[in-house]
Amino acid sequence: MEVIISKTYEEMSRAAALDVAEVLNATPDAVIGMATGSTPLGLYQELVRMHKKEGLDFSQVTTFNLDEYVGLPVTHSQSYHYFMHENFFKHVNIPPQNIHIPSGTTSNYRAFCDWYEQRIKECGGIDVQILGIGSDGHIAFNEPASSLSSRTRLKTLAKSTIDDNARFFKSRDEVPIYAITMGVGTILEARKILLLANGRKKAEAVAAAVEGPVTSMITASALQMHADSAVYVDDDAASKLQMREYYDWVQQKKPDAPKL
Ligand code: PGA
Repeated sequence: MEVIISKTYEEMSRAAALDVAEVLNATPDAVIGMATGSTPLGLYQELVRMHKKEGLDFSQVTTFNLDEYVGLPVTHSQSYHYFMHENFFKHVNIPPQNIHIPSGTTSNYRAFCDWYEQRIKECGGIDVQILGIGSDGHIAFNEPASSLSSRTRLKTLAKSTIDDNARFFKSRDEVPIYAITMGVGTILEARKILLLANGRKKAEAVAAAVEGPVTSMITASALQMHADSAVYVDDDAASKLQMREYYDWVQQKKPDAPKL
């Protein structure tokens, strides 16, 4: 895993955005896996800026979001449909028919999840997957003890995740208990994975994911099994990493490394 440590959230967001832009420049019809939450907001803002100021083109891009709350209509201000539209999709030129977000209101979850998996395959698989990490080490809504081979499915949220996400709702009682989420196995099939984390609250989860054992108790640790994953963190989220000095050294020496 490549670990890229930035001083600030803004610097981290910019570095990750450059990585996504590089994929887009090489593959204009790339399939991007999108994440919600507060972490990727800066990355999305930077991609929007690159689109508006530097002509970064999304006209051939296809997207798949990781997850959605069960029971929230797309118009609900805390639905991930709403979040993605407000924070990203309405500011760039992705054709609406190329946007995929799990449905939180389908009448048949099993059939929907199977269709979602199938659709990812039909579109050629995900080229670059953006991820956040929960304070319990989850990726998407793959809570501790999720199978590392899991596929898109209905999931019951952990109480700690409901607590973490209560800040976005009027009260804790309003936070949905269920979600539909891509599985860890689905995520691991992406060709490239970028995990972002900022803030002191994520430091333990990041250290466990990057340097701990591969375990379903920290589903982000499954990224250790992926051949092309990068972890973008700010100073605070990096504060529990034992190998920090090495990660910084690798980045310092990167410009002079033999080209692959
Ligand atoms: P956050 O959520 O970006 O809002 O911290 C991350 C996650 O739970 O995956």
